[in-house]
Amino acid sequence: MNIRKLSDAAIADAAQLLRSGRLVAFPTETVYGLGADATNDKAVADIFAVKGRPQFNPLIVHIDEVALAQRLAVWNEEAEKLANAFWPGPLTLVLPRHPDSPVSLLVSAGGDTLALRMPANPHARALITKAGIPLAAPSANRSGRVSPTQAIHVKEELGDDIPLILDGGACTVGIESTVMDISGKRPVLLRPGSVTREQLEEVLGEAVSVVQVSDILKSPGMLASHYAPSLQVRLNITEPRDNEAMLAFGPRVPSGARAVINLSESGDLREAAARLFAALRELDKPDYSAIAIMPIPSEGLGIAINDRLERAARR
Ligand code: TXA
Ligand code: MG
Repeated sequence: MNIRKLSDAAIADAAQLLRSGRLVAFPTETVYGLGADATNDKAVADIFAVKGRPQFNPLIVHIDEVALAQRLAVWNEEAEKLANAFWPGPLTLVLPRHPDSPVSLLVSAGGDTLALRMPANPHARALITKAGIPLAAPSANRSGRVSPTQAIHVKEELGDDIPLILDGGACTVGIESTVMDISGKRPVLLRPGSVTREQLEEVLGEAVSVVQVSDILKSPGMLASHYAPSLQVRLNITEPRDNEAMLAFGPRVPSGARAVINLSESGDLREAAARLFAALRELDKPDYSAIAIMPIPSEGLGIAINDRLERAARR
């Protein structure tokens, strides 16, 4: 049985699993999260694999203190006000990534922002403190299913795919956190939650507009943080041109490119997902004429990888 009731010993074991790159489901006041070390590319890639997410949606990073948030993201006046008023609690703040942020690029889905939240549930914060790392954690359900509010829901959804589910009883809030984007000029409410627009406007002293994340994702240009390489991106390439940089996959890499980064020599999609965004950034240099990308199988995590590559190629 991989469900354990909350205790100091269970939290210590969970923290150890997280530090070694494994996934742990844990309770927050909103819904159960599927946690991983936010600084570990492979652990974060595992979240997408276990959830069966067809796309790399950006993930919320859970923190235990404001000082940690300030090391991961560029703090601003709105963040100060909102954190004072609502943290710890069910409010997620989207901020620019700190230039030295150790958080995996996969957490930001290749973008320039980070979503941060300090959960009100004291056991969730104790877990983060004990692990000593920020935790990337989406809701602990399979993609397209409703969020779990009890440990048994997590067990039903994810079964034995994760080594440990911490059982803290039923979540008190039960709907996901309010998501506020304060990375741009104007504050934007991306996802409604139990912290309301009126409460946010009162604390900020200004109007808050509402945009659905789904709308932003449909028209990527709207999101300033949307990652598009400056170089042209060519997909399904088996014969690269002389001046191209090649993003390779698998053991048989065609010759002819000026530079090559192999996402996974063994053809492991999880390894490829973990390296994807960092590799694209590395190859996006004026030294090359374009980024040529080898075919990647559209199965498992390959579907999410190809989704992001198609977006990068569309421009
Ligand atoms: O209550 C919650 O927020 C729960 C618990 C576990 O904390 N987590 C949760 O995570 O609901 P998830 O992955 O299911 O939803 C994350 C939401 C998505 O709507 C995502 O698009 C948005 O946050 N998000 C994350 N990072 C973002 C970013 N950098 N910019 C814009 N939106 C972001
Ligand atoms: Mg969710």
